This record gives sequence, structure tokens and C-alpha cells, in this order.
Amino acid sequence: MCGIIGILGKADVTPVLVEALKRLEYRGYDSAGVALVGENGMVNRRAVGKLSELEHTLAKSPVSGKSGIGHTRWATHGAPNEANAHPHRAGRVAVVHNGIIENFHPLREALIAKGRVFNSETDSEVVAQQVDDFLDQGLTPQAAVAATLKLLEGAFALAFLFDGETDLMIAARRGSPLAIGHGDGEMYIGSDAMALAPVTNRITYLEEGDWAVLTRNSYQVYDALDNPVSRAERVVNMDAMLVDKGNHRHFMTKEIFEQPSVIALALSHYLNHDHSAINVPEGGLDFSKFDRLVLVACGTAFYACNVAKYWFEQIAGIPVEIDVASEFRYRSPPVGARDAVILVSQSGETADTLAALRYVKGKAAQVIAVVNATESSIAREADLALPILAGVEVSVASSKAFTCQLTVFAALAILAGRQRGQLDAAGEKSHIEKLVKAPRLLDEALQQEPQMAVLARDLAKARDILFLGRGPLYPLALEGALKLKELSYIHAEGYASGELKHGPIALIDESVPVICFAPVDDLFDKTVSNMQEVMARGGKVLLISDSKGIARAKSGTWATLEMPESDPFTTPILYAIPAQLLAYHTATEKGTDVDQPRNLAKSVTVE
Ligand code: G6P
Repeated sequence: MCGIIGILGKADVTPVLVEALKRLEYRGYDSAGVALVGENGMVNRRAVGKLSELEHTLAKSPVSGKSGIGHTRWATHGAPNEANAHPHRAGRVAVVHNGIIENFHPLREALIAKGRVFNSETDSEVVAQQVDDFLDQGLTPQAAVAATLKLLEGAFALAFLFDGETDLMIAARRGSPLAIGHGDGEMYIGSDAMALAPVTNRITYLEEGDWAVLTRNSYQVYDALDNPVSRAERVVNMDAMLVDKGNHRHFMTKEIFEQPSVIALALSHYLNHDHSAINVPEGGLDFSKFDRLVLVACGTAFYACNVAKYWFEQIAGIPVEIDVASEFRYRSPPVGARDAVILVSQSGETADTLAALRYVKGKAAQVIAVVNATESSIAREADLALPILAGVEVSVASSKAFTCQLTVFAALAILAGRQRGQLDAAGEKSHIEKLVKAPRLLDEALQQEPQMAVLARDLAKARDILFLGRGPLYPLALEGALKLKELSYIHAEGYASGELKHGPIALIDESVPVICFAPVDDLFDKTVSNMQEVMARGGKVLLISDSKGIARAKSGTWATLEMPESDPFTTPILYAIPAQLLAYHTATEKGTDVDQPRNLAKSVTVE
């Protein structure tokens, strides 16, 4: 994780570094820091906590320089204190690092044995110390970095500045993303293009193993074998990346309320003009060629895969396997030439998902990425990248990316049904008719926000909360519990309704709210029986259903929340709204930091 930025500028770069770090704060906010090289040498400032703390430090103790690097940290090695904050300085060298140097122990021991003194517990400092050691041996900065990179194992994006070198920055990537930004007589590097959005839209992405030597007016990229290589410069649409909260108190609510419009946008991309068919994506996609789908992701994106499994199996009759990327990548799963693997990721940079992609590349018939960040590593390395078109998602807890992932999966399931002969043209059209109602239904569900805020006042008092759902609503129970945990820090678990009696029912008493996602569908009566089992033991049930379901089953419940009636096909998309808003309001009731919950980061670029 962690975000890094580097600038060779024409004027003092401190404010631009801070602005860029704000845009990278989603990658971690345990500490932040900058190092600058000016006429009077190298200086740095670091502060524990969010970027605002660094801003206070800089206000109290200003620094300036026309060359600078900056970092926002998600701690891996070493507590989030000032000594462990980046940039790390050793002699003439300052470095910022995103990733993990796996062999830092032996390197550190060897350098200590040579008399070097370390100032932090991080894996990253060893990089600065090693480069400085090579400088001491008479190597040039470029040769010292090249030699150091060969010693490093693990994943990294790195940026180096050198004391006394006012027009030099060196950057390197292996496993973690890094982009070069081209300015007018200025040069930038950043963990992503979004960090650079205010200053340039001309971007060169470094490829795996690349490193680069930058000055204000030139750059040279080298591959892992130190051969000079050229990498394309592209113009990226940055307008979409310049986001603010609008009238909302948090990015989270802004993003929740954007869902009807971004889902409509995604639908317009995947549906043909008269809504009679799903467009076959450019690049080609034919589900009749596959015997099996394997869906792999992390976090909320994984729960979208859980819903997709129901859709693909029911609508297209295709077997689906799902797994979290951190397990999938290491269990040597057999992947055949008639399997399609779909990697799902909002950021397109999640380390485990990227590793899973690399594992299946060349083995599977087609490697498909369902991504929000279309310039990301996962998007670029997949055989086919399908955008979810959610727009920039800032809040660390995912909301609109989830429902856009579901929307894309719903469209793909219909396409698969058609291509595999499970749906005729009329069946395709009728599924699409249901799907296009989703934005309006979500709009209606959002109108229930005041009721959810009231319910949240009670939920905020709970120590544990259970979520139940059946069929494709089971993953919504998992997502509801995840949202609640990450935003409000209340312990929550999601269960398949029928599984409750196999253990979790032991937790039930009057202090444990049980939130049931129970739209009227074929399994409604079974879910109601499970609710009865909870209520018989004094459990406090919040029934979330449509008007018919509430009329049939509200007796004995603690509370009800009415959702619009919808076809079972689209209920998983619709029920994301209460999953998100109940968590949001419980969190605001508790006063937690909704957009940047403790210990989390939005883009998890370490495993
Ligand atoms: C982090 C975020 C989650 C996200 C997950 C996967 O844990 O906090 O919101 O679902 O990573 O991220 P991805 O970018 O791959 O979808």
C-alpha cells in the first residue's frame, strides 16, 4: 500500500506534493512525509497520522525546494511513528517506498555489520542505506540504484532523491504501480495517474521491473536487465479524476447517492440502443467457448463475485468457482484451457488479485478484468478489460463500485445465457427489462435514508450484529456485515439464513440485532422460518423486505425497513442500499472516520 509522489519542478514543489498526497491518502494514512532538495541541500518533514498532521508540521516548520518526494504510509513493518515514516534518509539519499522488501533482514544485517546505523524499523530504510553505501563506494546515483535493485526481493515502487542533485530523480517499480507524468519543463512520478491529475494528463506507465532516470526535461526508462527501453506516453482523461464531495458531508454518502446515475451509465455501455440485447464487448467475449468460470477478487469485489455465481449458474447454466485472491494465488488451482478467469477489482491494483491474474495468464482460455480503474495494472495485463464505469471512488469502503460490478455481472450473465443457448431473444430482452429498472429502484430505496438513520441510532449501541440472507442475498448479508465492521468498528457477521442454526444461533440474545435481507422470492418463507428461530430466542430482528414481505412477516420483529418491490434478479443490487446506509449512519452515530476508517486502505498493494 502507501502512496508515493515525486516532482522535479520549476518552483517550490511543497504545496504540489501535499496536494498530490491528499489524492493518494486512500492508499494509507498512518503517517506522511516529504523530502526536498533545494539550493541549501536536502530537508525533510514527517508526521504521524493523517496528512493534516503533516500540513500542521509544515506550517510550523516550513521547508522548500524545487525537487521533492512525498509519501503517505500504510504501516507494514514498524509502528506508525515518526521514525518509521517516509521519506527515509541515509547519507545523501532519500527514498519513498510502496511495497515490501522481503529480504530486508539479511541486507540490513550486512549493512549494520559494515557500521551503518539504522533509524527505523522499516523494511524500506534498507533501500536508502544500500544506495548510500554504493555511493560511498564511488558509484554514481544511477549505478547505485541499479546495483541496489538487483539485491532487492519483494514488491516495490520507489522514488529517490539525492542531496546536491537538484535535477535528478530515480524511480523504480516491481510489483507496485508507478507512473511518470510529463509536464512543461517539469517531471513527476506518482503511484497513480490520479495523484498527478492537477498537474498533467501526459502519463507513461512503468512496466514490471522498469526503472527510470528523470530530469526536468528528459527521462530514460530501463528494463529489469538495465537495457534502455521506450514506454508509450499516453494522454489520460483527467477530468473524471478531479473529484470533490459536492454537497455531501462525506465521500461515502456522495458515492452511495451516485449509484442510480453510475449504474445507468454502466447499463448504457453494456446494452444496445433499444435495450434488446447485451453488447458483446469490444475485444470479443464468447461464453459458449468456456466450460467453467473462475471469479477471483478481494473484499467487497469478492462479494460481487458471490452474487455473480448465482446469476451465471441460474441464467447461463455455467459452473462457477469463486475464491478470494489471497487464497487462490497460492493453492495452485488447476486452470484449464476452457476456463475463463474473471478478476474483479475497483482499483485494479490489489496485489493479490494482480498475482492471481499473473498465475492464470496463459493457462485460461481468456483472462478478463472487471475494473473501475481502466488504466490500472490489472486492466492492462488482462486479455480483456471490462469497465464498471463507477467514476472515481474515494471513500475507502467501496459502495458504488460494488453495485456497478453487480450491474456488469448481471449484463454478462445475460450475455452468457444467450450465447450458451439458455436464453432466447425474448428471455434476453425480459432480463434486460428487469435490469434497466435498477437505477429507478435504487433511487426509491435511497428515499428511505431517514428511516435508516433512525434505525442506526439503536444499531450503534450494539456490540455484535448479525446479517442474514438467502440465495443471492446471502452475499449481501456478507457485504452488509463488512460495511458495518469497517465503518463503525462494531463486530458483525453475515450468514446464509439456513446456516444460522449450525452455530451462530448460540450468539442470539436480546442485545444482538439480526438484520434480515428478505425480499419476497421463492425462498421467502424459509427465511421467515429462520427469523422465527431468532425471535423465539429473544433476538431483535430488523426485517428488510418489500411491502408484501413486511405485511406477511413483520409480527414479532423489532423493526422493519421497506424496500421497493423488485424482481428477484435485481434485488442484490437494490439491497446494497440498506447494507451501505445502515453502516454509514451507524458509523456517523458513533463518530468514526467514515471515509478513512482506522487501519484500512483503499488500494491494497501489499499481500
Ligand atoms: C480494500 C478496500 C475494499 C475493497 C478491497 C478490494 O480492502 O478497503 O473496499 O473492496 O480492498 O479492492 P479492489 O480495488 O481490488 O476492488
